[in-house]
Amino acid sequence: MSVTIVIGGQWGDEGKGKITDALASQADMVVRPNGSANAGHTVQTDAGIFKLHLVPSGILYPDCDCVIGAGVAIDPVSLIGELDELESRGIDTSRVAISDRATVILPYHPILDRLEEQSRGDQNIGTTLKGNGPAYADKVGRRGLRIADLADEKTFVQRLRLVLNEKNVLLQKIYNADPLDESEILETYSACMERLAPYIVQSEIVVQDAIDAGKRVVIEGAQATLLDIDYGSYPYVTSTSPTAAGACQGAGVGPGQIDRTIGVYKAYITRVGGGPFPTEDHGENGEIMRQRGKEFGTTTGRPRRTGWFDGPAARYAARINGLSEIAITKLDILDEFDQIPVCTGYRLDGEIITSPVASAVRYGEVEPVYEYLEGWKQDTSASQTLDDLPPAARAYIDRLEQIIGRPVTYIGIGPSRSQIVERAATV
Ligand code: GDP
Ligand code: IMO
Ligand code: MG
Repeated sequence: MSVTIVIGGQWGDEGKGKITDALASQADMVVRPNGSANAGHTVQTDAGIFKLHLVPSGILYPDCDCVIGAGVAIDPVSLIGELDELESRGIDTSRVAISDRATVILPYHPILDRLEEQSRGDQNIGTTLKGNGPAYADKVGRRGLRIADLADEKTFVQRLRLVLNEKNVLLQKIYNADPLDESEILETYSACMERLAPYIVQSEIVVQDAIDAGKRVVIEGAQATLLDIDYGSYPYVTSTSPTAAGACQGAGVGPGQIDRTIGVYKAYITRVGGGPFPTEDHGENGEIMRQRGKEFGTTTGRPRRTGWFDGPAARYAARINGLSEIAITKLDILDEFDQIPVCTGYRLDGEIITSPVASAVRYGEVEPVYEYLEGWKQDTSASQTLDDLPPAARAYIDRLEQIIGRPVTYIGIGPSRSQIVERAATV
């Protein structure tokens, strides 16, 4: 038995897709536990660049099964688009399985996502507008429709009628927007369900059977710890628990079944959307990181906010996820700098604190305390082993490892499959 969780340690886009792809070369199954098409995971192989939103990153290995778990919110139209695109690039998607318990994103969810964002004004969250928040709110409010509901025509009509009546009142009376037509939704989504029918399974059973059979399973988290609904910078968060615990729940796996929990962190940090960001660099260096790191959203194309490695947030994420290992990605993006600031604490009201605080307003007031590490001013992207990295780059990784308090076992030095260095742990 071997189950590995891959978790984002920062505000997302750390390179979870790339690390999952690396692990998938040795895996039998990759499971996506939560989130929706708000995620964008990039994998770069000899066949080109793949941007995956719902389909697990294991899909690029022909023998790897891919499961979309019960905790995921699925927009059937967008999933079919993703499957079609993969097929058009010669990828066999018959290895994809979709949970019958997954909640469904229906047309009113993205509409409400946009309207809610508009009504938040300058306090808007900067969501991906994929309908993620409204869909999970409906799931928890027990107004959601699941894949299993859509698969049964009678249930679909009954459930949709109940919910749509309420949504149309909301759309018209609160937001002054147009109502949605029930028959149009039924027609479009029933057609989607016909197309998706061969993929639908009881995913938690499929995953448990794989574990029982001694197969190697990777759970590929979406989003990241600082976007967590409980532990992130609320309300500037997503609507799920993108932690190791949330990954267990979404995949249908118990904590005791997990062998490795790998946290993925960039060698610096980025954030898309609003909310506090203590180490953000609004200046020239931030722009250098954005351009060198191609920091533009995989899902929305928005420029990502960029900043220096945030030690307190990183350590906090390592602790609440119980990480066993760390992957540091995008070290190559720092190749140009003379000096690299690393945040080791926050100053708040004249005192030093060492973890994010609950209030987003207060968290927005913290000032980072930096130490300055020597840059290496050398191209690291062709490194094949740890010894190929310049001493200052190795020292940088050693320092991050000390700060996070967990062993760094992978280092990313470029976007392609081969650009990854393995490292033995020293803490
Ligand atoms: P995810 O959402 O965590 O899977 O990350 P994204 O795919 O949204 O964003 C990470 C971006 O960085 C992608 O464009 C990757 O191809 C790229 N990437 C991943 N690892 C590395 C690395 O070590 N170096 C460089 N230069 N790019 C990387
Ligand atoms: P991956 O898996 C980065 C952010 C949005 C917004 C907040 C809420 O690629 O790392 P939502 O649409 O979820 O209601 O938006 O969460 N966000 C992400 N940021 N990477 C992601 O996914 C994200 N998924 C959501 O930008 O700030
Ligand atoms: Mg991403």
